[in-house]
Amino acid sequence: MSGMLQFDEAGARRLEAVYTTPDVVGQRREVRRILGLRPGEHVVDVGAGPGLLAAEMAAEVGPAGRVHAVEPSESMRALAAARTRAPAATPETAPVEIAPVEIAPVEIMAGSADALPLPDASVDAAVSTQVLEYVADVPGALAEVRRVLRPGGRLLVLDTDWDSIVWHSRDAARTARILAAWDEHLADPHLPRTLAPTLRAAGFTQVRTHVLPLLNVGYDPNTFSAMNASTIGAFVTGRAGIDDADVRDWIDDVTSLGDAAFFSLNRYVFLASKPVRPLPASPG
Ligand SMILES: C[S@@+](CC[C@H](N)C(=O)[O-])C[C@H]1O[C@@H](n2cnc3c(N)ncnc32)[C@H](O)[C@@H]1O
Repeated sequence: MSGMLQFDEAGARRLEAVYTTPDVVGQRREVRRILGLRPGEHVVDVGAGPGLLAAEMAAEVGPAGRVHAVEPSESMRALAAARTRAPAATPETAPVEIAPVEIAPVEIMAGSADALPLPDASVDAAVSTQVLEYVADVPGALAEVRRVLRPGGRLLVLDTDWDSIVWHSRDAARTARILAAWDEHLADPHLPRTLAPTLRAAGFTQVRTHVLPLLNVGYDPNTFSAMNASTIGAFVTGRAGIDDADVRDWIDDVTSLGDAAFFSLNRYVFLASKPVRPLPASPG
């Protein structure tokens, strides 16, 4: 079996639920603090998913600003549209809490990281959270982001190194097998460790880094790890000899540890600048 995680309607809704846990809400708060958007700025969210960050950034840039939410999955674009444009959403129609944004200068656009539907030098800032690890040609995507940024503009990238995972269970060998199969859900499960030189090679300067840990100690169903367990289980079933029973037993294991449950995973943030003037060509 091959293929990355699919963001069809069910996959998009599962991701939306995981990304509204307090863990990921807090992660977005840190991302926005590091990016430091100002009123009136224009920003592109590359791979905007269900529009959670786009909606929050729209409130920060205000009516004089603009958020371009670029996303290839139609199901994700539908969720982003509901989040940023549907003030009348009710609990019956909304599977997760929708926070209507009073001022919503959000333009939802079909597109992908290697072909952004924006003119050259048209945005002040670009963000891409949990996206480049799914992209086969990261240098190509960075060149495209650089094209649409104005000189002096900034890029924030957040990705996970899945080797940073610590997930306590009663059967460590089974957990290791399941997580090895889960590594196949994206193009590069270890992107952060190579991203700083890749950003510099793509012409970005002033590369600054941060680590944002996700930490769940004690079992709580409304956490990143608890909600992600079923997504991981569904993806790995049928891969690397893992069957339904393995997945059921693994989920029972990690969700029944009570106070002994422990999960930790690092997200890495890179903030980089597009130089005001073109960089001099390197000698030789
Ligand atoms: C894990 S989700 C993250 C969504 C969003 N950035 C967030 O942090 O809430 C990954 C997203 O990347 C999108 N994606 C995958 N490949 C992409 C590509 N080549 N260009 C742009 N987006 C892509 C997926 O459709 C999905 O919405």
